[in-house]
Amino acid sequence: MSTRLFSFMGGDTGPWRVAEMRVIAGEPLPAASRLEIASSSEIPSDPQAAWVLRGITSNERYVVREERSQIVAKLLGLGRPEATCAALIAIRKNEAWWALTQDERLSIFKEQSHHTKIGLQYFPELARRLHHCRDLSENEPFDFLTWFEYEPTQEAAFNKLVAELRAIEEWKYVEREVDIRLVRYET
Ligand code: HEM
Repeated sequence: MSTRLFSFMGGDTGPWRVAEMRVIAGEPLPAASRLEIASSSEIPSDPQAAWVLRGITSNERYVVREERSQIVAKLLGLGRPEATCAALIAIRKNEAWWALTQDERLSIFKEQSHHTKIGLQYFPELARRLHHCRDLSENEPFDFLTWFEYEPTQEAAFNKLVAELRAIEEWKYVEREVDIRLVRYET
């Protein structure tokens, strides 16, 4: 079974407590107080959740060799005990984005927006995982589920990074965005 498939289940169970759920663009998601993340082998067939968002990790589309080496050198692992804060930012891009050719999208992502450069500049060490939903079906509510884990002292830097990304050319194509901030639940 694929371990690339992940489900994010918002409801009243799970190790992550929802601290804030902010709609940046488009439709909101129903309220949830906790978040559970399951990989394909663990996904319940009938989860008791207010919403379930599914995504799959995939090959890179926009990274060149040099950037990949930089990213790999700096990327931190998920699940570090000190990283008690997380962000699940769900994003859908509009039809205009998907109507572009791959080289046009690359030009916007890289030359016009500097997405990776900004990311590495603001937050060189960030535990992150990108999930593609569109690769599962075009009926998924979002195209991407982005997941980040960081320490409480890094929250301001993360907020700056997100604000900077929301101002780039690429973000003009974002038609739905829900930003969910979480804190690992202590029992
Ligand atoms: C250290 C910070 C970050 C770095 C280094 C980074 C880097 C990257 C890279 C390299 C890709 C392209 C993957 C590929 O080649 O397919 C990517 C895609 C993406 N990132 Fe980031 N990113 C960062 C932060 C963020 C944040 C904070 C958000 C959300 C607010 C975000 C949202 C996305 C989305 C939605 C995509 C998919 C774009 C698409 O395929 O159309 N990233 N990121």
